[in-house]
Amino acid sequence: MLPLHGKIVAITGASGGIGEATARLLAQRGAAVVLAARRSERIDAVAHDIREEGGRAATCVVDVTRAEDLQRLVATTIDRYGRIDVLVNNAGIAPISPLADFDTASWSAMIDVNLRGMLHGVAAALPVFREQGSGHLVSIVSVAGLYGASPAMAVYAATKNAVRTVHEGLRTESTDGVVRTTAISPGYTRTDLANSMTDPHIRERIRKNMDAVSIPPAAVARAVAFAIEQPDDVEIGEINVRPTAQA
Ligand SMILES: NC(=O)c1ccc[n+]([C@@H]2O[C@H](COP(=O)([O-])OP(=O)(O)OC[C@H]3O[C@@H](n4cnc5c(N)ncnc54)[C@H](OP(=O)(O)O)[C@@H]3O)[C@@H](O)[C@H]2O)c1
Repeated sequence: MLPLHGKIVAITGASGGIGEATARLLAQRGAAVVLAARRSERIDAVAHDIREEGGRAATCVVDVTRAEDLQRLVATTIDRYGRIDVLVNNAGIAPISPLADFDTASWSAMIDVNLRGMLHGVAAALPVFREQGSGHLVSIVSVAGLYGASPAMAVYAATKNAVRTVHEGLRTESTDGVVRTTAISPGYTRTDLANSMTDPHIRERIRKNMDAVSIPPAAVARAVAFAIEQPDDVEIGEINVRPTAQA
């Protein structure tokens, strides 16, 4: 039997990059996946591919900045597959810039998507996990969230550090064995994340770095699968997965 047979997993930001790779890998390993993002044509195409390959996949158009969209994602998952075992909180943006640029619109956007979006997922999934007697929250954080900030990364790193802090809080509040939490921090990963960068110089620098040293999104997907595949009484708290050659 496939290792994730019977697992029901909802994934935000599944229209590309790490979220798409995660949806494809988990489905190959037997999970039923619900792909969520704003670009409906992208998630529909990926779900179609997964079904063509014999997997189980549904979609839900979600903007994670809207709390009600996460409620709808959880409800859709339960309607479709009867329960929700895992929510992968992956949607994220990185319109990074030096603080001195005062790009306050990007600061707000990163807080809304990276942090508030994650909290909306917690609010939607946690009551259901408790009702079911089990559930697993996985967040894609960043190595930028492991330390203080490097130049231009302050607000992005702050949102990612905050997500890790919320994970830690959830873990300390979940000693009844019901909710598992896993924070996965990738280094440079070959995705479209640079497209969310508004400063053209920074965007080009990050693209160059990604071209020079990066791992494929499937490497992060394997870390997600590893955490989910553990027995219910085993919690993988944190995984850092980065290119061997990344400083
Ligand atoms: N690539 C890296 O080097 C790297 C390193 C560390 C951490 N990460 C993290 O990995 C996660 C995935 O990023 P990625 O690298 O795979 O980048 P990506 O290819 O740009 O994917 C980002 C995903 O987030 C979704 N998204 C953005 N805003 C959203 C919103 N408001 N509501 C719903 N979905 C939204 C996008 O879908 P739609 O546009 O269709 O909504 C897309 O599917 C992010 O949290 C990122 O911070 C990436």
